[in-house]
Amino acid sequence: MIQLTILDSEAMEALGARLAPLLRAGDLVLLNGELGAGKTTLTRGLGAALGARGAVTSPTFVLAREHPTASGVPLIHVDAYRLATAREVDDLDLDYGHAIVVVEWGAGKLDGVSEAWLSMDIRRPQGDAAVEPSADDDLSGDEPRQVTITGHGARGLELEARLARRD
Ligand SMILES: Nc1ncnc2c1ncn2[C@@H]1O[C@H](COP(=O)(O)OP(=O)(O)OP(=O)(O)O)[C@@H](O)[C@H]1O
Ligand SMILES: [Mg+2]
Repeated sequence: MIQLTILDSEAMEALGARLAPLLRAGDLVLLNGELGAGKTTLTRGLGAALGARGAVTSPTFVLAREHPTASGVPLIHVDAYRLATAREVDDLDLDYGHAIVVVEWGAGKLDGVSEAWLSMDIRRPQGDAAVEPSADDDLSGDEPRQVTITGHGARGLELEARLARRD
């Protein structure tokens, strides 16, 4: 398990960019965290580093969007917010094997989809309820996030180890 403090949205994009060169076709990344945690921000940095075509935005109404990338391995960006079960995710019929797949809100909904993945859990350290706008708030809205990265299965653990080594 890796724990990082990410101070602003730029650093969140940089974390995505750091992950990008480690990923290959068949890899699965689960992004968890409340609304506005920074899941799409991280995916945007990842997409930019992969040379993904098309804007990386929250695909809430689309459910899944496939971006061609510079390497030829597409990035599939899924928003599972509206999906309740592994069955519904499975019904999207995504071709996980040929793409790098990033799933927002996928926790607990991907049983059986893959035996290995990297989980990234993003939270506000102070807790959500405590966050109240105040006069000294940064105008950009940047505030720290706590990111916990956990690999599952052999490939997930390998990705976690490589991220920890920063290679
Ligand atoms: N440290 C930080 N890391 C990431 N984003 C941050 C940070 N501080 C502030 N932000 C802001 O928080 C928002 C994160 O939005 P984003 O769309 O990435 O969240 P999300 O987790 O994808 O939400 P949703 O569940 O609605 O899809 C952005 O407006 C971003 O600028
Ligand atoms: Mg999002």
